[in-house]
Amino acid sequence: MSKIFISCALPYANGPCHLGHIRSTYLPADIYARYNRMIGNDVLMVCATDEHGTPIAVKADKENKKPIEISKRYHDMIVRDVESMNISLDNFTRTTDEAHYNIAKNFFKDLYDKDLIYREDIQQLYCPNCKKFLPDRYVEGLCPVCGSEARGDHCEKCGKALDPTELDEPHCITCGTTPVIKDTFQYAFKLSEFEDALKEYISNNDNLPANVKNYASNWLEEGLNDWILTRDMDWGIPVPLDEAKGKVLYVWIEAFLGYISSASQWSKQSGKKWEEYWNDYVVHFIGKDIIYHHSIFWPGLLKAYGCKLPDMIYAGEFLSLEGEKMSTSKNWVIWIEDFVKDYEPDLLRYYLTINAPLNKDSDFSWDDFQRRNNDELADVIGNFLHRTFVFTKKSFESKIPQYSNPSDEDEEFRKAIAELPDKAGAYIADYEFREALLEIFKVAKKGNKYFNDAEPWKAVKEDPQKAANCLYLSNQLAKTLAYMLKPFLPTKADRIAEIMNLGSLDNWNDAKDELPTGHEINKAKPLFKKIEDKEIDAQKAKLKENLTTQEEDNMSDLITIDQFDEVVIKIGQVKEAEKIEKSDKLLKLQVDIGEEKPRQIVAGLAKFYSPEELVDRKVCVVANLQPAKLFGTLSEGMILATGESGALLTPDVKAEVGERIQ
Ligand code: 2FM
Ligand code: ZN
Repeated sequence: MSKIFISCALPYANGPCHLGHIRSTYLPADIYARYNRMIGNDVLMVCATDEHGTPIAVKADKENKKPIEISKRYHDMIVRDVESMNISLDNFTRTTDEAHYNIAKNFFKDLYDKDLIYREDIQQLYCPNCKKFLPDRYVEGLCPVCGSEARGDHCEKCGKALDPTELDEPHCITCGTTPVIKDTFQYAFKLSEFEDALKEYISNNDNLPANVKNYASNWLEEGLNDWILTRDMDWGIPVPLDEAKGKVLYVWIEAFLGYISSASQWSKQSGKKWEEYWNDYVVHFIGKDIIYHHSIFWPGLLKAYGCKLPDMIYAGEFLSLEGEKMSTSKNWVIWIEDFVKDYEPDLLRYYLTINAPLNKDSDFSWDDFQRRNNDELADVIGNFLHRTFVFTKKSFESKIPQYSNPSDEDEEFRKAIAELPDKAGAYIADYEFREALLEIFKVAKKGNKYFNDAEPWKAVKEDPQKAANCLYLSNQLAKTLAYMLKPFLPTKADRIAEIMNLGSLDNWNDAKDELPTGHEINKAKPLFKKIEDKEIDAQKAKLKENLTTQEEDNMSDLITIDQFDEVVIKIGQVKEAEKIEKSDKLLKLQVDIGEEKPRQIVAGLAKFYSPEELVDRKVCVVANLQPAKLFGTLSEGMILATGESGALLTPDVKAEVGERIQ
């Protein structure tokens, strides 16, 4: 028996789960875990939410909330989604857990004390307007490698991990300002010292799949730089050094350690040692966008710490939606919460597994989902099971009949059933989940053909033993299917077990024992039903509707009259104007727009008008802009002026203060 440490990549707690999360990481990890438990291996499967880092801090800024409020909200949703898909994690924690803070700090200290982390004076991007450093996702620009739009830490297109200073045409994501370069210091990990060890790890590890090996070796060929492990920001785990006030650990170093802290939390609860699992066999299930981190940074850190490296890194390729890249910002996505409201999770588990191997890109389309559900689950697997159960009840008093004087066809079918557990099991053990499911499907299909050819409804009168043999073997296959489907469709498998009085499906090899003659089964209702065209049409329409709304918001240059109508522009009159200290661009104005009190507006007009020139001028004011602070001064609107020359838009004399422009 082996002990197996399985991890799923930690989801950022900045959004709920969608189909892509399930397909690339949680589902394959779950199939692998469930199968290994069934063959008697001792499995520890862990995960956590990744709560620090700029993705959450940026979202919190946008919503004017504390980062912990954001991460808690999404942590709860992610737990709900993962549970709704029946992912059998042994522990799921959070990176804001106190124990995780301690583990991360101790890890950093260990490497620092070994001189593998050193202080380095560096230059970083800084936004002069927001007055803060712009780590990682606080800045966006163009990827220096492939030229696509990229975030400061990572290019989604080519998968390269980036330093924000490498970006072309960078801009602050909060205010759009082009950042400047400013001196600071950070702590760097001597990753370059581990280049040879990592090359050896990647090239000599035959377990690693081709996509991981290829990515990693390409990057290793470029040579490794040391890796900055800290950031100037508030949200995160403080660097455990007195001299490092205001600095936190980079989210990636501690996210990896989330695997360990989740496992060690489990150890405290279970009394078992997670280290025994790690030291036996470790497999990380990840999405392909983070191969770089898991094949280079993480093994580098582990080597430095003196830990065994992962035995396997399994990277799921991308899932597209209706042929287009999924995008959460454009809402071109199916959220798990929505999916499971309409369909059982097992149907999705089936589709996502059978549709393409994990190491190939795959697409979710509603038509194809319907086709596979109707033609495969309902017509093949469901139909085979149902006719077996119904016929057993009708003609054999719900008892497994006797098997004797088998024909060649019977024996051939019996052999196919007997071979299935080993064949499917070997595929799963080899991470070929789709192949395993195809093999299971193939035998179910054979079952239908066998049943049709045997025609037990006729044979029961003309050749009762033939009918008995058919139902004996059909029940054996139904039982085997229950075991085989358990890792893939756990709920449906349990339903088959209930109907057949099989008890719990804990042991894969129990599938190999035939049910004895006389074993009684229960009355059955159909396990799968067909999905109607109109449901699928409604799903497709919903998807497009959601996208359209977003398109109007984000993607089109043209706006509708309703959108224009949302902007309230009023005639105002400047009552007071003064300079803002230390700013050569901004003026502070008090503008009467026909309300009880004048509005305070900070305007970038100092280069074009003196304060005196503005007093009494009639201006056009955007009156329903969210208030914001500019240079520490509250601004409650915007004065319309041209960009280059700063020319004010002034109304005709007859315009009254407070009138709306429309
Ligand atoms: O890319 C991501 O979504 C990260 N939150 C993954 C972290 S995986 C690991 F390090 F835990
Ligand atoms: Zn800024």
